[in-house]
Amino acid sequence: MTDKTKLSADEWDELNFPRSPENDFDRVVESALNRRGFLRGVLAFGSGAMVMGTGMLSGRSALASTTARFPFTPIDAQTDGVVHVPAGYRSQVLVSWGDALFSDAQGYDVAEGGPVAGSDRVFGENTDGMETFSFRGHQLIAINQEYTNNDINLPAAQEGVPANAEDVLKLQQLQGVSVMEIAETENGWSVVVDSPFNRRLHHNSPMTLTGPAAGHALMQTSADASGMQALGTLNNCGSGKTPWGTYLTCEENFNGYFGATGEMPADEKIAAGYTRYGIDPEGWGYDYHKWDARFDVTQEPNEPHRAGWVVEIDPTDPTSTPVKHTGLGRFKHENAEVVLARDGRVVVYMGDDERGEFLYKFVSNGVYTPGGSTEGLLDDGTLYAAKFNDDMTGEWLALTPESTGMEMAELLIFTRTAGSAVGATTMDRPEWVAVNPYAVEAYCCLTNNTRRGTRTNAGGDETPVGGPNPREANQYGQIVRWFPHDDDHAATGFAWDLYVMAGNPAVHSDAYGGSDNVTAGNMFNSPDGMAFDSTGLLWVQTDGDDSNEGDFAGQGNNQMLAGDPATGAMARFLTGPNGSEVTGLCWSEDRRTMFVGIQHPGGTWPTGNGVPRSSVVAVTREDGGLVG
Ligand code: FEO
Ligand code: CA
Ligand code: CA
Repeated sequence: MTDKTKLSADEWDELNFPRSPENDFDRVVESALNRRGFLRGVLAFGSGAMVMGTGMLSGRSALASTTARFPFTPIDAQTDGVVHVPAGYRSQVLVSWGDALFSDAQGYDVAEGGPVAGSDRVFGENTDGMETFSFRGHQLIAINQEYTNNDINLPAAQEGVPANAEDVLKLQQLQGVSVMEIAETENGWSVVVDSPFNRRLHHNSPMTLTGPAAGHALMQTSADASGMQALGTLNNCGSGKTPWGTYLTCEENFNGYFGATGEMPADEKIAAGYTRYGIDPEGWGYDYHKWDARFDVTQEPNEPHRAGWVVEIDPTDPTSTPVKHTGLGRFKHENAEVVLARDGRVVVYMGDDERGEFLYKFVSNGVYTPGGSTEGLLDDGTLYAAKFNDDMTGEWLALTPESTGMEMAELLIFTRTAGSAVGATTMDRPEWVAVNPYAVEAYCCLTNNTRRGTRTNAGGDETPVGGPNPREANQYGQIVRWFPHDDDHAATGFAWDLYVMAGNPAVHSDAYGGSDNVTAGNMFNSPDGMAFDSTGLLWVQTDGDDSNEGDFAGQGNNQMLAGDPATGAMARFLTGPNGSEVTGLCWSEDRRTMFVGIQHPGGTWPTGNGVPRSSVVAVTREDGGLVG
């Protein structure tokens, strides 16, 4: 058996959910024609223009040399096992997988690993999205713990396979979310052990379901006949932050935790949902279903419907019950970027990270008033899926009973099906969305899609080459950007372009070489994490191929770059250890520290001995200056 737990969550998905191997001749030909048509238009602008010349990428002059915006000297690609930052900066580990958040918990021990007892009182594994909060003089940070590498959490002889309920409990407790108080001293940043704000949420923590799908028959289980009280938050990927100071954690590859000990559900609606969301009898190797009936879909066919949501957590109140907001739809949520519309309504942009799935936005019915009630602002509203036209316009298609033919609760539980019903654009894996604080525009990382133009998504929707997904078998990814009509994020119309197409100009001289703002000096693949800083710089993190070979030669380890939204210039700021993904980014209140997540490192980073440990690093300037 392949040890799926040695793969990143996205690699698991690739391995476990192969799309139908259909190779419909007509569709392939059509895709090729679309692509040729697109390139014809490009060539009219001259061979040097490549895809940029179509106008899909905003006009930029001399952008390769436009680095004045960046307050650092860009670094070279790296292939070693440590973190690199520019001259004049330093990085220091804030917290690592297994570090105790409470003095009565046993921290990680290189020789012994960590015990199941207390695994819900240590920093979990595989750090991902995170946000900081300032509360009554305390600096708080909430950090997602996306998944576990079972082979390094369970006894070595088991080779990553849980042998009993205790093993499963340990894995469940090492994932979810950590909320912690942190503080800076002369020795740098550290966790305030035993702070009353410290809290772990994991796969068994009580959660409340709210919104139109809460209580629906498809949400009811034998343990919760109300369909209103879920347990656990699963596969916490990207993050978000509300204007009222709460944390949003986004459930991504939740499907991988479920399996079947017997028959799969016969109900057609449920079975169709399983197919679309990738729930199968085997699961992804966690084997929860063998030891915990809640994850056995033979016994609990509705339990998977209670995951795949955006969850709101109040980091300032450790006794609060997190809320799963069904109004924001159920899919493989990457992050949740919250912004206010011109009239104060709450807009949430969200990607569904799977090949050929959709980009969404939610617009609340009510308006946000500072200090006022926030009830319903993430549940009562309209969910939309994006349609991108080749003429660089687009529209948000409302997902309603009228437009989808689905009742409201069901269109939220099976949001992907609703998106298909309205004809939303199948995308190259939408990851993080970020909104520019200085312009009414939003960006989304489309990380890659090696099946673009060759296979449908799991719902049977075509994935034609074109629009913001312009390259067949796209192994590099791109960042799409849209400009809402009327400078209003609530508007249903928008214009769009591509901010960057990643590529390798040293290997390819066609569109796979990337857009003009990609050079041999800054190239990368698979943009994923993304956030704007307070100065208006766009920070882009990668989760891609770090083999440094073939199509990826010269790109080195995964990395973090800064981008200038005005010129398109991009500069490499940080490189992660070999094997790692760089994901999660936030700043201290005084903006003199940038916190960056290093997930699934290889080698023995950061300690230099034992197993590698996913960690968050604090990056500061040696002169104590601002870092964003
Ligand atoms: Fe958890 Fe799509 O990254
Ligand atoms: Ca990601
Ligand atoms: Ca990714």
